[in-house]
Amino acid sequence: MEMGKMKKSLRIKIISMGNAEVGKSCIIKRYCEKRFVHKYLATIGIDYGVTKVNIRDKEVKVNIFDMAGHPIFYEVRNEFYKDTQGAIIVFDVSDRNSFEALDSWLLELQNEVGNQSEVDNIAVCVCANKTDKKRVVDESEGRIWADTRGYHYFETSAQTGEGVTEMFQNLFEGVVSADQVEAIQKLKAARSDYERLGVQLGASKDEVNKAYRKLAVLLHPDKSVAPGSEEAFKLLVAARTTLLKKCS
Ligand code: GTP
Ligand code: MG
Repeated sequence: MEMGKMKKSLRIKIISMGNAEVGKSCIIKRYCEKRFVHKYLATIGIDYGVTKVNIRDKEVKVNIFDMAGHPIFYEVRNEFYKDTQGAIIVFDVSDRNSFEALDSWLLELQNEVGNQSEVDNIAVCVCANKTDKKRVVDESEGRIWADTRGYHYFETSAQTGEGVTEMFQNLFEGVVSADQVEAIQKLKAARSDYERLGVQLGASKDEVNKAYRKLAVLLHPDKSVAPGSEEAFKLLVAARTTLLKKCS
């Protein structure tokens, strides 16, 4: 088999949050389809889309779950928070209520994801959207809100396209490194070679190699810029070698 075919592309899951009508769907449409829709078509529950991007020479498949901001859709969207790796949290600079609602969106994220370390691993970009309109929320207010929570802040306009590509690029890069950081931490904390590879005692050669490849894609020093990946990669190679010897 050719090497290229063995490489499995990464998949990441992104969600959108923020009040109804702030422009979540339009930001996503602007990025994926390079166009803008003036008419307001409220998202009903959830919209799902997929796009491919290249991050540091790796092809990444991005699954986007675009949520409906209206409170009546809470019961529909709440089940889509699980396993999220990246989130855009959007407000409208011409609507102060949408800015003031940001904390309740964060709370919803925390409640639905549940586990705090999982929440901390989610890359979040705050979008101050509709910058082409007369604004009532200043850039400094938005920035402070994002900075104090450790999130990246972008001024965007789905209408003109301002900031949209930069925002997504930043989000995707944050997601991939969060993935890598997690893999590195797990490898270093593991107490056995089985745990390092995440396989059961008595795993077959195939299972060992499959688990190895999954992690090697993330951690290969030629591919990863995450600190500690070199050391983690060595642990991974050693664990695989030992386990393969144990397989008959
Ligand atoms: P829900 O799906 O109901 O949660 O709303 P949403 O956040 O997805 O909003 P949507 O993207 O549907 O946009 C709402 C309205 O705002 C539409 O009429 C858009 O045309 C308009 N809009 C979105 N982004 C911008 C922008 O950057 N500038 C301006 N002027 N209008 C925008
Ligand atoms: Mg929408």
